[in-house]
Amino acid sequence: MKWLVTGGAGFIGSAFIRLALGSGWARRVVNLDKLTYAGNLENLAAVQDDPRYRFVHGDICDTRLVERLLEEERPDAIIHFAAESHVDRSILGPEAFIETNVRGTFSLLEAARKAGVARFLHVSTDEVYGSIEEPDEADETWPLRPSSPYSASKAGSDLLALSYWTTFRLPVIVTRASNNYGPYQFPEKLIPLMISNALEEKPLPIYGDGMQVRDWLYVDDHCRAIRAALEHGKPGEIYNIGGARALPNRRVVEMILEILGKPYSLMTQVKDRPGHDRRYAITTEKLAKASGWRPEVPFEEGLERTIRWYRDNPGWVARVKSGEYRKYYEQNYANR
Ligand code: NAD
Ligand code: TYD
Repeated sequence: MKWLVTGGAGFIGSAFIRLALGSGWARRVVNLDKLTYAGNLENLAAVQDDPRYRFVHGDICDTRLVERLLEEERPDAIIHFAAESHVDRSILGPEAFIETNVRGTFSLLEAARKAGVARFLHVSTDEVYGSIEEPDEADETWPLRPSSPYSASKAGSDLLALSYWTTFRLPVIVTRASNNYGPYQFPEKLIPLMISNALEEKPLPIYGDGMQVRDWLYVDDHCRAIRAALEHGKPGEIYNIGGARALPNRRVVEMILEILGKPYSLMTQVKDRPGHDRRYAITTEKLAKASGWRPEVPFEEGLERTIRWYRDNPGWVARVKSGEYRKYYEQNYANR
């Protein structure tokens, strides 16, 4: 298989490429990435000299570039990760989310349709369902009620992608995953931010009462699920992907502090996020039935692995946290 991966220098895309080449899932991987603040070629050091790998620096909104690339490479599938991915940033400045997540996806779909690509896997999120009341769990037919500009832009792009199957018979598959965690995640998201602050003994900002519930999925389990959906999924279908481990944020942060041997007193309640979803919950039976996929990494084990990685890679963290990160941190946390 020859794959075009978009956003492969980010957290999940880079894990996917390392696994795809490391485990021989693909015989060639082309990575198209704009290298925004979240894109980091260091994440791909393990594959950069692999002759099966090619990096292309570019924007998915550049339809001409995508068309040229599809013509040159003729991939069997596009696996579309590229996105603006952080809710708090979408509150501070939504425009880039509409541009990349909606217009960028449109640009890729158009190029894929013209080139007759055989599979288009659109990587999405369970946040498109919005907050779910206990004891409900959303299946793939659940209504879309996105709360943030981020999740609304993803919901829009999901619907656009599905319309390319209904209207043009472009074989689109949509996956909707729960909250990912693991090595190489940008320290703006809950788990890496808390690990990184705890290591520096800085305050850990808990939004509101910290009882919001998220379902945690280890990044490699997500990547294996995407491969399963590519192999066994049907065009026009949506597949939820979850870690089957729902926890309130406060408990996740306590576990991080316990593993690191740091005091709970580092936790600091700050002003809540506007429009904050209280609970995400999904069923993942559809993908399990279609492919046999199940998450393999228990949360405790994944969290220990992740913490070890951040401890062992202070250089990566320091480089990522210099420059742009400081400005963002100030903007998001200073007046909370
Ligand atoms: P990330 O922010 O770590 O990486 C995004 C990557 O996309 C970066 O490498 C960035 O440079 C690239 N990119 C951004 N705009 C681009 C553009 N216009 N053209 C080309 N490249 C561009 O994101 P992530 O956490 O790895 O998420 C990847 C995908 O998975 C996203 O589509 C996201 O919505 C989805 N998702 C993420 C999670 C999660 O918990 N992180 C959960 C479910 C779904
Ligand atoms: P996040 O990692 O941003 O993912 P998402 O909002 O996409 O679920 O946040 C996960 C949860 O952690 C969410 O309920 C918000 C909360 N949170 C905090 O309490 N403090 C923080 O500093 C961050 C980044 C998140």
